[in-house]
Amino acid sequence: MSLFIKKPLEQLMDQASDSGKGLKRTLGPGNLIALGIGAIIGAGLFVRTAAAAGDAAGPGVVVSYIVAGIGCAFAGLCYAEFASMIPIAGSAYAYAYVTMGEFMAWIIGWALVLEYALASATVSIAWSEYLNSLLGGAIPYQWCHSPWETAIDGAQGLVNLPAIFILLVLTSILIKGTQESATLNTIIVFIKVSIVLVFIVIGWSFINDANYTPFTIPGSLPGHEAWNRHGWGGVLGGAGIVFFAFIGFDAVSTAAQEAKNPKRDMPIGILGSLLICTILFVLFSHVLTGIANWQEFKVAGKEASVAYAIKTYMHGYEWLGTLVTVAILAGFSSVILVMLMGQSRVFYSMSKDGLVPSVFSQLHPKFRTPFKSNMILFVFVSLFGGFVPGSVAGDLTSFGTLFAFVLVCAGIWVMRIANPGAIRPFKTPLVPLVPILGIVICIALILSLDYVTQLSALAWLLIGLVVYFTYSKKNSVLRQGK
Ligand code: ALA
Repeated sequence: MSLFIKKPLEQLMDQASDSGKGLKRTLGPGNLIALGIGAIIGAGLFVRTAAAAGDAAGPGVVVSYIVAGIGCAFAGLCYAEFASMIPIAGSAYAYAYVTMGEFMAWIIGWALVLEYALASATVSIAWSEYLNSLLGGAIPYQWCHSPWETAIDGAQGLVNLPAIFILLVLTSILIKGTQESATLNTIIVFIKVSIVLVFIVIGWSFINDANYTPFTIPGSLPGHEAWNRHGWGGVLGGAGIVFFAFIGFDAVSTAAQEAKNPKRDMPIGILGSLLICTILFVLFSHVLTGIANWQEFKVAGKEASVAYAIKTYMHGYEWLGTLVTVAILAGFSSVILVMLMGQSRVFYSMSKDGLVPSVFSQLHPKFRTPFKSNMILFVFVSLFGGFVPGSVAGDLTSFGTLFAFVLVCAGIWVMRIANPGAIRPFKTPLVPLVPILGIVICIALILSLDYVTQLSALAWLLIGLVVYFTYSKKNSVLRQGK
C-alpha cells in the first residue's frame, strides 16, 4: 500500500464528533484565546527582544516583530481554516493525514515533538534560571545546571532540579483535568498581560528619543559585519531571533477536540491570540529599546534585560523589576503547561491512529485526560530539562515549528484542489498567495538557523523514519482497515 495513503476526511470527522467517550469539551472562545496567549508570551518576549536588539536589529527590533508577526499571520490563517474544518486533537499532524497522507503526517507529528516537547524543556530551564535569580542565587550551581555546564568559578553542573520540579507540578495539574489547567492558565495569562501593559504604560514616559537614532545598526560597528547583523538585513536577522516569541499560537489547534464549538471558536482562538500578542510585542519592544540604548543589551543589560532597564532608568519603580520577574516565572509556567498539553494531544491522535503505542491514548477513568501519556512525557521532557543546556533545545524548537508551518500552509493549498467542496467554516483569504507567502517566509527563517541545529533536526527526522518503518507502518489502523 502506498506510503501516501490518506485518511478520508469523513472518517476524521466521525472521530472528531465521537465526544462521548473521548476528551471532554470544556473550552470556550475566551479559554482558547487565553490558551494561545498562555503559550505565546514567555522566554521569547522577555529574553529574546533584547538579544535581537543587541545582536542584529538595534531599535529596529520593533520592525523585526512586525515581520515575524506577518510571517506567523500567514501560517495562522492557514491553521485557522484547518482547525475550523477538521476540529480534531493533534492539529497539524491530523491535517497532514487527510491532505498529504500518512507518511507526511508521521513526519510532521515527529517534528511537532521538537516544537512542543522541546519548547517545554527549554522554558523549564529558563524558569529555573529566573527562580534562582529571584532567590538571589540561593540554589547551588550543581543543582540548577546540566552536567554540560561549568560556572566561571569552576563549579560543575549535575542536574537542573528546579526545571524537573516545575515540569512535575504542571504535569500533575494537566492530569487533573483540562478545565482545571485552563483555569490556571487564564489566571496566569491575566497576571502576565497586566505586567506587560504596566511596563508599556509606565515605561512610555521614560523613553529617551535619542535611543532610536540610528534606527538600525551601522555596518561599520565591529561584530556587525554580516548581512543579517546590521541595517535592514539585521532587522530580518532579528525577526529570526524573535520568531521564538510567537511560537505557541498553533497550540490552540491541538485542543480542538476539547472546544465546545470548534468550528467558530478555533479561528477566534488562533487569530485572536496572535493579534493581541503581536500588538503587545511591538509596543513592548518599542518601549524597551526607548528606555535603554540597544548597545547596553550587548553588555550590562544582556541578562534579565527588562529588570535591568527598569532598575537603571526608571527610578522610583524598582518594585516593578521584582514584579516583572514574578510575572516572567508565571508566564514561563503557562508556556510549559500549554506546550505539554499540546504534545500529549498530538500523541493522543497518533496513538488513536496506531502510529504510536496505545498507551498514549489511554484516558484516566475519572479525569478523562491522557494521564499515562502525560507521565511518559514528563520523564522524556525532564531528561532534556534536567540534563541538557537550554540553548541546545531553543533553536530546535524553532526548527520543528517552522517545519510544521510549511506543511500546514502547503496542506491548505493541496486541500483546496483535492477537496474543493468540503465545508470550510473559516476560509483562508487569497489562496494560494497566503500559503505561498507563508511557506517562503518560514523556509527563509529555517535557512537562517545555524548549521548544527539543522543537522540535529535532520538526525531527529531520520530516527523518526526508522520508527515509522519498524513500528508505525505495521500498526497503522488505516492500513489494517480497522
Ligand atoms: N513563545 C514561547 C515563549 O516565548 C515559546 O516562551
